Amino acid sequence: MIESELIWHNGEFVAWEDAKVHVLTHGLHYGTAVFEGIRCYDTERGPAIFRHLDHLARLERSAKLYYMELPYTVEQLRAATHELIARNGLASCYIRPIAYRGYGQMGLNPLDAPIDVSIAIWPWGAYLGEEGIRDGVRAKVSSWERINSRSLIPHAKASGQYLNSVLAKIESVKAGYDEAIVLDDRGFVCEGTGENIYIVRDGVILTPPETASILDGINRRSVITLARELGHEVLERDIARAELYIADEVLLSGTAAELVPVREVDDHTIGAGIPGPVTRELQGAFQDALYGRGRHPEWNDVVAVPERAKA
Ligand SMILES: Cc1ncc(COP(=O)(O)O)c(C=O)c1O
Repeated sequence: MIESELIWHNGEFVAWEDAKVHVLTHGLHYGTAVFEGIRCYDTERGPAIFRHLDHLARLERSAKLYYMELPYTVEQLRAATHELIARNGLASCYIRPIAYRGYGQMGLNPLDAPIDVSIAIWPWGAYLGEEGIRDGVRAKVSSWERINSRSLIPHAKASGQYLNSVLAKIESVKAGYDEAIVLDDRGFVCEGTGENIYIVRDGVILTPPETASILDGINRRSVITLARELGHEVLERDIARAELYIADEVLLSGTAAELVPVREVDDHTIGAGIPGPVTRELQGAFQDALYGRGRHPEWNDVVAVPERAKA
């Protein structure tokens, strides 16, 4: 059960149990909502939100792609999130802003439906488990292919699009795996259900390019930057399915999951079946970045506690 005390909703702080929507909310019926998944970490400088402005910029881009004009600026959403964290008294948490077409209009033309915005936060542990982060997860290539740009918008983080991830996730879990890897519409490796993917082959880190129907992950950008700073070669190129099986290392990155090694794909053992050296090195640098110990203090948005939230 996820829970905290207050939720920010359309400019007000409301009690967790009072944050409700009407059953005819447009977004509930047609998936017309855009959202973000963000994390706040308990750093030496205090609670700090990892790449907060990058996430809020992506929220704005997702909204634009669905013809939604957000009624709040990025700066307003940022300040609201800071205050919410302070008021809930959480040092580390998951943050879920969502902008959705609200109540008042049914039918497929959403343009006259209001746009409501909520931000919820709650303590949330490692999405694929602490064990997954430590020992690696088992993944299955899904029979569901990732949405593509002829039908939906891979660049957008929009609610309705996640039915695709939900189907792939259900399939993998029912088959006894931890996670699914989806291929794009050309049959190349795309990503996990909520994570970007990388393989290591002959010392080179490979990851599918932005044009391979991936979500342009914030952590993907961080991983690429950190890997290059550590002296690794990183290539953004299409990856064939079989390259997963013969890779020395496979890993996933995402806000909820963080940096997770993959130890098996479709029952093929990856490398020695334990997280490899490149994965371990990247995990170390990534953890440092999340907690503001690395070379990028600008990635940590330290929560500024507003006076009125201190009382
Ligand atoms: C489909 C999908 N791909 C990739 C990611 C990773 O993105 P990020 O690193 O911004 O969390 C996510 C998570 O938001 C996702 O939902």
